[in-house]
Amino acid sequence: MTVAIRAIQPAFAGEVSGVDITQPISQADVAAIEAGMDKFAVLVFRGQKLTDAQQMAFSLNFGALENAKGGNVTKPADLRLPTGMNDVSNLGKDHKPLARDSRQRLFNLGNMLWHSDSSFRATPAKYSLLSARIVNPKGGDTEFADMRAAYDALDDETKREIEGQICEHSLMYSRGSLGFLDYTDEEKELFKPVRQRLVRTHPVTGRKSLYLSSHAGTILGLPMPEARVILRDLTEHATQPRFVYVHKWKLDDLVVWDNRQTMHRGRRYDESQARDVRRTTVAGDAPTVAQAAAE
Ligand SMILES: [Fe+2]
Repeated sequence: MTVAIRAIQPAFAGEVSGVDITQPISQADVAAIEAGMDKFAVLVFRGQKLTDAQQMAFSLNFGALENAKGGNVTKPADLRLPTGMNDVSNLGKDHKPLARDSRQRLFNLGNMLWHSDSSFRATPAKYSLLSARIVNPKGGDTEFADMRAAYDALDDETKREIEGQICEHSLMYSRGSLGFLDYTDEEKELFKPVRQRLVRTHPVTGRKSLYLSSHAGTILGLPMPEARVILRDLTEHATQPRFVYVHKWKLDDLVVWDNRQTMHRGRRYDESQARDVRRTTVAGDAPTVAQAAAE
């Protein structure tokens, strides 16, 4: 078998065939998938019935797994999945849908805002890999926005304005925009803002992209309301349908995206029914910009 990639949209999102990722794959296949990621930014693998161990093993072909600490408010005792797996389901440890007023659920609703995974970390994520173990009967699409095409389509004046600008990102900004405002002292420490460039350059292709995320709450040197108006304008621009691929989940899909050149969001679904999607996250190599000196 040889890896083949079919474009789903002309320059964004591809579907991969010719590879069984439940088994170890060759270096040639890894290289073909990486090249496909660089080109399409989102790759869809259909019919891959993965266990957690197989998903982690496949993910490790692309780099080290990110440490999930500091990414949610779920208490360690309430975790449903093993270390290395991020739980993007609506399920509690008892494998039943979380209660409507569950703090864990309310926090995780932030995934329905446009974001780039782990942009709230000083070294943000490279790839995310999301595996559909139970597909919800209604809704739950994931939408992806091509932040390279969105950057390219900006006018020159806007490109000049934002070049070199630095944002601060925090989970408290994205959740705060939904009215989730109460954090323990420990969470406030974990969720302290980090700095990210607003325009970043892909390390392999050299293409520039807008590095936006609902976690972005300020731009250094600007008053916060002005920064937020700019960020909202850019987000509105970047998420026009012409830049977006909508993924409709089928059982045993694995979707891989490059957080360095995309944003994504989950859509609402019937939360009385299970939606079991599990993510592994490949860590990035380096911060996008130097962090503020520690206080
Ligand atoms: Fe996400």
